Amino acid sequence: MDNNLLIQALKGSPVERPPVWIMRQAGRYLPDFMKLKEKYDFFTRCRTPELATEITLMPIDQIGVDAAIIFSDILVVLQAMNIEVEMRDGIGPYLPSPIKDKASLEQSILPDVHEHLGYVFETVKMIKNELKEQVPLIGFAGAPWTLLCYAVQGQGSKNFDRAKAFCYQHPELANEFLQKITTTTIAYLREKVKAGVDVIQLFDSWGGLLTPKDYQVFSWPYIQQIIDALSGTVPVIVFGKGCWFALKEMSKSGAAALGIDWTCSARNARYLSGGQITLQGNFDPSKLLLPIPEIKIQVKQMINEFGKDRYIVNLGHGILPNIPVDHAKAFVDAVKEYQS
Ligand code: CP3
Repeated sequence: MDNNLLIQALKGSPVERPPVWIMRQAGRYLPDFMKLKEKYDFFTRCRTPELATEITLMPIDQIGVDAAIIFSDILVVLQAMNIEVEMRDGIGPYLPSPIKDKASLEQSILPDVHEHLGYVFETVKMIKNELKEQVPLIGFAGAPWTLLCYAVQGQGSKNFDRAKAFCYQHPELANEFLQKITTTTIAYLREKVKAGVDVIQLFDSWGGLLTPKDYQVFSWPYIQQIIDALSGTVPVIVFGKGCWFALKEMSKSGAAALGIDWTCSARNARYLSGGQITLQGNFDPSKLLLPIPEIKIQVKQMINEFGKDRYIVNLGHGILPNIPVDHAKAFVDAVKEYQS
């Protein structure tokens, strides 16, 4: 691999400077992405290996990040399970028939991942071929809890109240569903690894909506199962937004790195995670709207706070659609210019 910084940081090896990539880097802030969006709907972009490859490579060429992440979505796993998902303009994900009871849960299937998600594995192979070992490729999946949030709520939400009420009222059904998602996700990620991804990231975007106790019932055990199932294959990064309370447990899970959002300081994150594991994060995405010189100052400060080793520079959540491309590039450049 020409640029091995991400792999080095995930191993905990010392590096000249930390690696940098951006959550949701293959997306809506890129003008070239918006041009493709006019021609092809969202899931067509995901399902067409040539298009998904082209989008995946955009941020490598245009902003110079140290890793690629496959253009796809966490919700393709629900589709494979026979749960319909649409992507609606102005709304985001929309599920016409959400899971609400035993009968609707029984409509969902444990899919053959080759049959239903083969297009993703084909995309991985195409990207690996085009990347020519420039940078590592990150594959990903949603945490089972975060997928349940969409499958039950039926669309995005500030609090996912219906999803939470379903879990509290029907914990057995909820756990049955979570296990079904977990089993599917493990099969899916194992095939992604076989197809060639170098790293896996699990997104638990809504883990922080649960109490620490409920997190241990409805989210963490399933993430742990996935980590265990991938053990000995590729490094796994776990990003639990708002999950600072679980960092201690996460640090002992076998994950190679933990993602941190901007509400947790570097010092607290190091303390809570025991000081040994690699951390990833946590620039406030809205700070990319600051003037470029200010972005650069604050990125340098952030690296000093986390320390250059056992650290991966990233945002604390996905990049916002209104970020100018040169600001995203300044974020990356600030890391490349870093000297301790
Ligand atoms: O990181 C990357 O750039 C790779 C591609 C990627 C997408 N979604 C493409 C996408 C990744 C890693 C995701 C993960 C994802 N999808 C998450 C977890 C990360 C997070 O941000 O919390 C979640 C919760 C989803 C579900 C989802 N997909 C939502 C809520 C939306 C609508 C709002 C939004 O973020 O844009 C999507 C649509 C989506 N997924 C778009 C993209 C580029 C925009 C829609 C479009 O292009 O038509």
